[in-house]
Amino acid sequence: MNKHKNTPAVGIVQWFHIGEKEKVKRTITDLQELGVTQLRTGISWADLFSPEGKEWYDWLLPTLASHFELLPCFTYTPPSLGIESKISSPPRNLKDYADTMDLLITEYGEYFEYIELWNEPNNKSEWDYTLDMAWQKFAEMVGNAAYWAKQRGKKTVLGGMSPIDPSWLSLMGDYKLLQHIDVVGIHGFPDVFDFSFEGWMENIKRVQEMLNYHKCEAKIWITECGFSTWQKNELKQAEEFAKLLHLPLDRVYWYSLYDLEPEKNTMDGFHLDEREYSFGIKNLNGSPKLLHSLWLEYGLKAIPDKVDALKPLALDDSPEEKPVLITGGAGFVGTNMADYLLSQDIPVIIFDNLSRKGVLKNLSWLKAKWKNRVQITIADIRNPYEVEKAVQKVSHIYHFAAQVAVTTSVTDPEEDFEVNLKGTLNILNAMRKMENPPSLLYTSTNKVYGNLAELRLSENSSNYTPSNIAYKDGIDEDQPLSFHSPYGCSKGAADQYVSDYARIYNLKAVVFRMSCIYGPHQCGSEDQGWVANFLIRVLNDETINIYGNGKQVRDILYVEDLVQAMELARKNIDHFSGEAFNIGGGADNAVSLLEVLEIIAEAHGQQPHTSYGDWRPGDQYYYVSDFGKFQQATKWQPQISYKRGIKKLYQWLRQESPAENVRPLKALKA
Ligand SMILES: NC(=O)c1ccc[n+]([C@@H]2O[C@H](COP(=O)([O-])OP(=O)(O)OC[C@H]3O[C@@H](n4cnc5c(N)ncnc54)[C@H](O)[C@@H]3O)[C@@H](O)[C@H]2O)c1
Repeated sequence: MNKHKNTPAVGIVQWFHIGEKEKVKRTITDLQELGVTQLRTGISWADLFSPEGKEWYDWLLPTLASHFELLPCFTYTPPSLGIESKISSPPRNLKDYADTMDLLITEYGEYFEYIELWNEPNNKSEWDYTLDMAWQKFAEMVGNAAYWAKQRGKKTVLGGMSPIDPSWLSLMGDYKLLQHIDVVGIHGFPDVFDFSFEGWMENIKRVQEMLNYHKCEAKIWITECGFSTWQKNELKQAEEFAKLLHLPLDRVYWYSLYDLEPEKNTMDGFHLDEREYSFGIKNLNGSPKLLHSLWLEYGLKAIPDKVDALKPLALDDSPEEKPVLITGGAGFVGTNMADYLLSQDIPVIIFDNLSRKGVLKNLSWLKAKWKNRVQITIADIRNPYEVEKAVQKVSHIYHFAAQVAVTTSVTDPEEDFEVNLKGTLNILNAMRKMENPPSLLYTSTNKVYGNLAELRLSENSSNYTPSNIAYKDGIDEDQPLSFHSPYGCSKGAADQYVSDYARIYNLKAVVFRMSCIYGPHQCGSEDQGWVANFLIRVLNDETINIYGNGKQVRDILYVEDLVQAMELARKNIDHFSGEAFNIGGGADNAVSLLEVLEIIAEAHGQQPHTSYGDWRPGDQYYYVSDFGKFQQATKWQPQISYKRGIKKLYQWLRQESPAENVRPLKALKA
């Protein structure tokens, strides 16, 4: 077996098309942020042969090499030189490959030490072996090139096999190709393309045995491996990655940093295989997947432990009661709800994909406090199968998982739609298939009432107040729906689906249209969770950014009061099914941003620094919930006034969060 260090050096595979300069720059920044120093990228012979090719590689290779140790993979026949006119064809003149590689080393040899000769030669899409029975042409072509590369002082990597096939490697040994090879590449995509993958160690062992048989001292590297999250299973991607970190190899390369752009073709065609499009550790909109978040937050070496900690735990033995499912249970409202239910001995399943920055901390807190009384499922509500599995186990669902920021919904309305509307539909559909479905509480929002243009507002020195007497107690459920912003549309449409499913499928489901909630465990960002965000900024001596003039009014509700309201709804769900309730702090807790700043100044002992920017799309000037309908039905009303609540949260943030955890989050997603 190769000599090896404890952890292999981990590189990333990222290929670029001619002209993708912006993507290259973004890649450099993103990989530097992760501390990655190894990059495997393609040098396309076909591109090099095109008119723009030379100029492109003249720029690309020095640019990349100034930041990374490069492993170029030299592949793809120019169609005009092929036996058939395609990039996977053997060239008519086999020596052309070595000659071009020779020129490549002359031009760019200073930028790399190793060169990989072809990509996946035993994969028909990459090398059409039906035009080269028994790979004779391949062995001759690459044998020549490898010989020359070594003469020119370069080290050679035999293009990574996919699938890993020791008998194919043996054939290369028989052709005497291996004697010019320093490293044998292997590729693996367990549970994506490699269905009967027997584990990395088993594969490495077999390849090593074949190398020994041919008395070849080449090392083994994984030059490409990865996991596609096309089914939104990001934990599995992180698990597959974690498996690499203990392998007895010097180097492994993970494919890839970014998902493939949907407008691109793959080697097999346009969207013929959806799995090809989701191998990134970042989504196309720049937001991180779970693996990226863990890597960035805790560092490479900590990933296996973090992944272990996220694996599902079995619930304590035989709870009498069926558990309650909390989607988005690692989030702010979810964590508070889980904590409350567990304190009442009610078992809980948390279902969350951890996409909200900072929520891993909440999950760790819950796990530390409640051990295996809380069951954790790291999954995405966009995955109907995972949703169905979870829904079948429970007595009630608190559905909180959502894309929660209006701003993100404006930049990425599709993701907002998928998560908020399709995710909710997945839950409803799982429920309607069951004979005795659980009940559901769905958290909608005041944004479903739009910008409330009919409100006549008086502008005072520190707030807006409505002049129409009809609104003195706030907005009640008779207010016509008017969806503004993609977030308003997705949440509002889901709100309507919940009520309608309750009606036509006879499900027990209730909707809470919530105003601003605040309290402990809130990862307050500028985009969502403004009360917490203001406090966190003050505690860090940072400037608070106000969008608009700060006179906009909200009725804010402390999360403990919300949890009580939700529990009343759960316990009385038979009476409330199909209903929607406005829930918030109400007129007594209506307060403007400027007024909140005053209370913060009082708690903190000094005025916060502030700056002012433009109004944001979808921001209401005034929104106060009239929660009379729910109050009449349950006698519920908030117990914690806004003044007390803000001070409570200030104290909690000071005591519970060490200084470095109180960093304000600038935005939810890149
Ligand atoms: N907090 C408020 O002021 C407020 C106001 C009105 C409505 N709401 C609604 O209440 C709910 C809870 O809000 P919150 O403040 O706790 O938000 P949060 O962002 O703190 O929590 C949401 C959780 O959902 C998870 N999540 C996001 N996308 C997911 C997906 N595709 N699959 C699985 N999990 C996913 C996130 O990782 C996060 O843990 C949301 O539906 C929100 O729209 C909140």
